Amino acid sequence: MKGLILSGGKGTRLYPLTYTRAKQLVPVANKPVLIRVLESIRDAGVTEIGIVVGHTAPEIKETVGDGSAWGVNVTYIPQASPDGLAHAVKISQDFLGDESFVMFLGDNVIQGGISPLIRDFDKNDWNSQIVLKQVADPRAYGVAELRPDGSIARLIEKPANPPSNYALVGIYMFDANIFEAVNAIKPSARGELEITDAIQWLIDHGYRVYPHIHEGWWIDTGKPIDMLDANSYVLDELTPSIAADAVIENSEIDARVTVQPRARIVNSTVHGPAIIGEDCVIENSYIGPFTSIYHHTTIRNCEIVRSIVLEHSSLIDIQTMIRDSLIGRKVTIRHNDQRPTGLKLNLADNSTLSI
Ligand code: TTP
Repeated sequence: MKGLILSGGKGTRLYPLTYTRAKQLVPVANKPVLIRVLESIRDAGVTEIGIVVGHTAPEIKETVGDGSAWGVNVTYIPQASPDGLAHAVKISQDFLGDESFVMFLGDNVIQGGISPLIRDFDKNDWNSQIVLKQVADPRAYGVAELRPDGSIARLIEKPANPPSNYALVGIYMFDANIFEAVNAIKPSARGELEITDAIQWLIDHGYRVYPHIHEGWWIDTGKPIDMLDANSYVLDELTPSIAADAVIENSEIDARVTVQPRARIVNSTVHGPAIIGEDCVIENSYIGPFTSIYHHTTIRNCEIVRSIVLEHSSLIDIQTMIRDSLIGRKVTIRHNDQRPTGLKLNLADNSTLSI
C-alpha cells in the first residue's frame, strides 16, 4: 500500500494568504495541515508516500524534505498545471505502479485516523473505497447515491437535488484499475480531469466501489472560515502542555493552553483551548479560546479570540477585540495616535477587513 497526497492546486479561495504560501502549509493549531495529513497516513502504517506538487513545490519540499523526520519516505511528483485530481493520479502512475493506494487531499483535516479505512479496504475485494460524510446541506459537495447493497451507484458534483446527504470527503482508496479510468475520461466543463468522473467510470465498467462513512468531524480548509473551524476542532482535542523553557510571569493560563518552547507570557490572560507558539511574546494581553499564535509573533496590549495568527507578526496596542481572524505572516497591526486619526491601510489584493 502506498500513499498519495495532493498538494498542488491554486488555493484561490484562501487569497491573499496563498499568494505567498502553499495553502497546505497554513498551520492548524500550529502544525501545517499537510503535516497532519502525512502523519495520519503514517499512523495507518503507510510509509511510501508520493506528494503531488505544483508551483509551491519549493516551500513544500523545504518543509517536508525526504519525510524522514516523520518516519516516511517521500517522493515528489511535479504537476505542471493544476489540471484536476484525476490528472494528479494520472501523473503518479510511475510512482504508484501496481500497488493499491490511499489518496488524501493535502488541505483536508479529519478527526481520528484512517486506519479503519485501510483495514476495510484490505479485507474486501473492492477496487475503490471513498470516504463519505453525512452533511446537512449536500448541495455544495460531490454527493454519492448508494445502492441497497451499500455500494456506490453514482456520484454527482454539487447537485441541485441531492439524492442523499452523503458528501465526498477528500480521501479515497484505489487499486491499479484507476489508471484505466483516468486515462479514459475527458476534461470537464471547467477543464479539469475530475476524480468523480474517474470513479463513475469505474462504477459504469463494473468495478466495485464502496463507501466508508466517516463519523467524526471533517474540514476541507478551502476558505478562511474553514481554517478557523479546523483550528477550533483540533485545539479542542489537543493535549495541553507547557514547555519547560517557556516564561510565564504574572499571568493566568488555564488548563487547556499549550505554550511552546521559549514563549514569554507576561501580565496576560490566556483562556484555552489555545496555543502560543515558539518564541512568541504576549504582554498585557488577553488570548481567548480557539486561538493559535504561530512562532515568533508579538502581541502587546491586545485582546484576541478564535483566530489564527501566523509567524513573525506583531499586534500592538489594538483597542478593539480581534476575533474570527486569519492573519498572515509578518503582518503588523498597531494603534496610531497621531493626528489626523483614521485608518491607514496597506492591504494585499483580495484582503478582507471588517470595521
Ligand atoms: P482544490 O481545493 O479543489 O483546489 P485548489 O487548491 O486549486 O483551491 P481553490 O479552489 O481555492 O483555487 O484542491 C484540493 C486539493 O488538491 C488541494 O490540496 C490542492 C490539490 N490539487 C492538486 O494537487 N492538483 C490539482 O490539479 C488540483 C485541482 C488540486
